[in-house]
Amino acid sequence: MDLDRLEERLAEAGQSHLLRFWDQLSPEEQAELAHELEGMNFIEINTFFKNAVATSGQAKQEQVDSRMEPLPREVLGSVTRDRESLKEWEAEGLRCISQNKVAVLLLAGGQGTRLGVSYPKGMYDVGLPSHKTLFQLQAERILRLEQLVEQQQHVNQCCIPWYIMTSGRTMESTKEFFSKHKYFGLKEENVIFFQQGMLPAMDFSGKIILESKGKLSLAPDGNGGLYRALGKHKIVEDMERRGIAYVHVYCVDNILVKVADPAFIGLCLLKGADCGAKVVEKTNPTETVGVVCKVSGHYQVVEYSEITLATAEKRSTDGRLMFNAANLANHFFSLPYLKDVINAYEPQLLYHVAQKKIPYVDTQGQLINPDKPNGIKMEKFVFDIFQFAKFVVYEVLREDEFAPLKKADSQDGKDNPTTARHALMSLHHRWVLNAGGHFIDENGTRLPAIPRRGPAGAHSHDDSQNLKDGMDLQIKCEISPLVSYGGEGLEKLVHGREFQPTLIIDESGIHENVKNGL
Ligand code: UD1
Repeated sequence: MDLDRLEERLAEAGQSHLLRFWDQLSPEEQAELAHELEGMNFIEINTFFKNAVATSGQAKQEQVDSRMEPLPREVLGSVTRDRESLKEWEAEGLRCISQNKVAVLLLAGGQGTRLGVSYPKGMYDVGLPSHKTLFQLQAERILRLEQLVEQQQHVNQCCIPWYIMTSGRTMESTKEFFSKHKYFGLKEENVIFFQQGMLPAMDFSGKIILESKGKLSLAPDGNGGLYRALGKHKIVEDMERRGIAYVHVYCVDNILVKVADPAFIGLCLLKGADCGAKVVEKTNPTETVGVVCKVSGHYQVVEYSEITLATAEKRSTDGRLMFNAANLANHFFSLPYLKDVINAYEPQLLYHVAQKKIPYVDTQGQLINPDKPNGIKMEKFVFDIFQFAKFVVYEVLREDEFAPLKKADSQDGKDNPTTARHALMSLHHRWVLNAGGHFIDENGTRLPAIPRRGPAGAHSHDDSQNLKDGMDLQIKCEISPLVSYGGEGLEKLVHGREFQPTLIIDESGIHENVKNGL
């Protein structure tokens, strides 16, 4: 280690305070800190900070608002309005998957701070009867889709490789979890982990924050860190070796995610798109979702943290929100476009700034937990490259495809384990009804398809109470992804039959009246 050289580099970048406690560190701590600092490009980090700060803040937010336009109709494919095209899109997607040209890529580098768990979000069990985690549900959907494609397209071996981006904070535990669960039945060589970069948190004057005397405060560089990481770890080269031409990128927390959705892929292919995004209708102005729209004529997502309330509340003449295309964090990319992004567009992207309360050590070496924001974290967003693409948007139904897990049950009644579990079981309940099955209570009386509330007038004005009532009335029904990817194949199992909940249908058979999970 060349300490003089390190001191010199830090002084040049105005970051000398990082060695303030050097003499108080053990030799191991010194080596670790030096190693971390030697790997950092401070001039680059300072430039990121300067640019990020220059392009954030209230005035900038208002400027973005004034340049926003809703999506034009011609860019939209819709699961409801374009029913007659759906079969064609699906067939095209399945054909492409059968040629082993499609990979899925999971963004799993986030820290799950809002959910409040110390392990990766994908390992979370929302309390389904099967107790499957988000990772397991996704893995099994991949397996089932491969199987479906083999059966329907008459191919020998369909393979959908699964790329998983983790961060310094989630890599080890994620890998261990997959290994412990034998990759949930997938082949180990088709599950590829890679790690995104980390960036230091900085105070408002641009000084890197120390979280302890010998450690920088580091956080993953946002899900847009994907592009740098793809380049650094030569992932696109790996995809090319496998013959991949299209990639479905998605975020970890949506329990209903249709991995490698053939209809979405087919729509993008048939429209000749480089890039696509899935959306559902946003109906509540304050829902924490980004909206897909145009900004100064270019496709973009304006994130919930970057839109003003006045704009979020704007309505069109039909009464709907003007900016109502809620981003699902489900994206399609062609490989050539992904390569252009890595080589040409990613370096042009600016970091987004989030003001945070960041624990730090003060000049005396005391750990301080601030009670108001004292610094910023910088992140790139995965969707910031839409602006360069030939772009398509696929509008799907919320109840079929979107139930994210963001927060713990103790917080307000949205986007939590209970709502995620409810959404999945409600979807599976509808699958059974649509396939001709029925549900009965313990006396053998048929249960209504739409659960009835208690006595007339019991309806509460309190939204969270209504939601809770709905949960209590939910018919408990879970169908393993290994049995059905999207509701297909159930008729032969359920048509004309009556089931007493809890109903579980999995590879081992049909289990009804299950009391405490399997
Ligand atoms: C995200 C979308 C938002 C969308 C919403 C839908 C982004 C930037 N925002 O918001 O527009 O409406 O989902 O649920 O995509 N991640 C990483 N590395 C990071 C940070 C995050 O891989 O450094 C991953 C997370 O593990 C997760 C995904 O990116 O899978 C989304 O991250 P999160 O921070 O939860 O985004 P939201 O704010 O919920």
